[in-house]
Amino acid sequence: TIDSLYDSHIALYPDFPQDGVLFRDITPLLRDPVAFRQVMDHWCSKIPSDIDLIIGTEARGFVFGAPMAYALGIGFVPVRKAGKLPGDPRSLTYDLEYGTATVEIAEHAIGDGHRVMVVDDLLATGGTARATVDLARQYGADVAGASFLIELEGLGGRDVLDDVPVTTVWSVPN
Ligand code: PRP
Ligand code: MG
Repeated sequence: TIDSLYDSHIALYPDFPQDGVLFRDITPLLRDPVAFRQVMDHWCSKIPSDIDLIIGTEARGFVFGAPMAYALGIGFVPVRKAGKLPGDPRSLTYDLEYGTATVEIAEHAIGDGHRVMVVDDLLATGGTARATVDLARQYGADVAGASFLIELEGLGGRDVLDDVPVTTVWSVPN
């Protein structure tokens, strides 16, 4: 079942990248073609059919968002970290525990009224997804939802995304 694949294909690393953080590593899942396909097929079945674009955040959001868009037959828009995009990208800077981060989307990548789904591997504090939703809305996007492979419960991510429907493959206690 999908549930059992979490235990078998997500590796846990205590105290990475900092003390007190239990890192969830997606490598075993990506490495196993049968499990990867099973998870992607299941995840795609949760995505509404009226979406125009999948929007995925660098870097791990690319790994899942692009094959999802391919499978669904729709477009993919990369959300990049600062300084990677040519032209006149829109950017949004948000607060982290220490410092700030900036996300950018290429000019003309999202049209006014496009119905988009934000996709990433992990929902933790929700900061990354919040910034991605707000940036997409600057283009006039209609954000249909945000969908994550893993939600770490208890970090407030859902509350930060309280104006967006959130779906997940696995929601686990942190
Ligand atoms: C990780 C993860 C999510 C984000 C979740 O990305 O892939 O994008 O953090 O955390 P949040 O809900 O607290 O914002 P990170 O920027 O660490 O690295 P990546 O480039 O490997 O995706
Ligand atoms: Mg990430």
